[in-house]
Amino acid sequence: MITIHLIAAARPNFMKVAPLYHALKTSGWAAPVLVHTGQHYDRNMSDAILTDLRVPAPDFHLGVGSGTHAEQTGNVMIAYEKICMEQEQRPDWIVVVGDVNSTAACAMVGAKLWIPVVHLEAGLRSRDRRMPEEINRLVTDAIADVLWTPSEDADRNLSAEGVADEKIDRIGNIMIDSFEMLRKRIASSDARQQLGLEAGNYALVTLHRPSNVDSAETLIPIVDALTDAATAIPVIFVAHPRTIKGLDKFGLTERLASEPGLRLLEPIPYVRFMNLVTGARLVITDSGGLQEETTYLGIPCLTLRENTERPITVTLGTNRLVDAGSLAENLQSVLRGDWPSGKRPPLWDGRTAERAVESLRLRSQPDGLTRRA
Ligand code: UD1
Repeated sequence: MITIHLIAAARPNFMKVAPLYHALKTSGWAAPVLVHTGQHYDRNMSDAILTDLRVPAPDFHLGVGSGTHAEQTGNVMIAYEKICMEQEQRPDWIVVVGDVNSTAACAMVGAKLWIPVVHLEAGLRSRDRRMPEEINRLVTDAIADVLWTPSEDADRNLSAEGVADEKIDRIGNIMIDSFEMLRKRIASSDARQQLGLEAGNYALVTLHRPSNVDSAETLIPIVDALTDAATAIPVIFVAHPRTIKGLDKFGLTERLASEPGLRLLEPIPYVRFMNLVTGARLVITDSGGLQEETTYLGIPCLTLRENTERPITVTLGTNRLVDAGSLAENLQSVLRGDWPSGKRPPLWDGRTAERAVESLRLRSQPDGLTRRA
């Protein structure tokens, strides 16, 4: 049996790791070992999502919690290195996913211990180095042995940075596997009903980027735009802990709570949350995953960012980049029905985990690291 560490740290990682965990478990030749770094620790940001995705409790829990970037990255490296240094715990492969601090941290541990590292969701670039995630992507892709990409633009980004073609396997978008795996439960969840929402008649909002929520200069105009939007359509604002902190700090929570058309909610586990997404008339977000999920579902998405590392959601899908100033105008376009219906990108088909397992199988052969799937 080949042992494969799957590293999960933060909310968006769990949805990417789960399909791979299940596919490896049934492969007959690979033993997946789940390592939770503990970067996210609130129940609804972590354990409840794993339960939704039918993933058992992690084999290792590093419990690193919050901190500055250096603290978080350093603490993950220290804790994860200890696990890998124990001979009987040393994996044959490490799979890191996404772009969070734990992704780069565990990739560095693996690279320095000569354990082959695979990066799932490789090659995405916003070209904005003020984003901590962009630094994590650059570091991880530079040292990973195998790069699993979701789309052709990602392959091109890697090639332009000098990554050898043999290291790249385009496998598709694994978040779609999670959605397809749970489609029935998502459809029958009563999340919408409990909130008294009518399908197709509300806007769903999520925000968590430091560049949007950490300063009053950016958060106040966004809150203004959202309260304005709430006069046109009911707004459900599912706030990340970072955002809740920002709203409290800048005295905005009361204002949102007293807005008749707006509901402010805490994070919601995956199945219930996706029930809200699938019924939304539109989504307003700065999340990476939601840009992809809305494109897959053909739901208009207004992304409150200057750039995106997922350009295919704009060129092919239903996503548009907006700012607080242009939100109202874009919202009106959606409500008028003046919005592209979009197309699903190739290989976003619910079978990405299968292709990932095949890639790992081929690459586990004696000449595997130089062989393409
Ligand atoms: C992290 C990732 C980001 C990802 C996001 C998804 C990095 C650099 N950022 O950002 O790429 O899109 O997760 O959610 O890795 N907190 C809680 N409970 C939790 C987790 C966090 O209260 O379960 C609080 C922390 O104390 C901190 C804040 O939320 O103050 C931010 O958490 P952190 O993990 O540092 O970054 P995210 O903003 O979640």
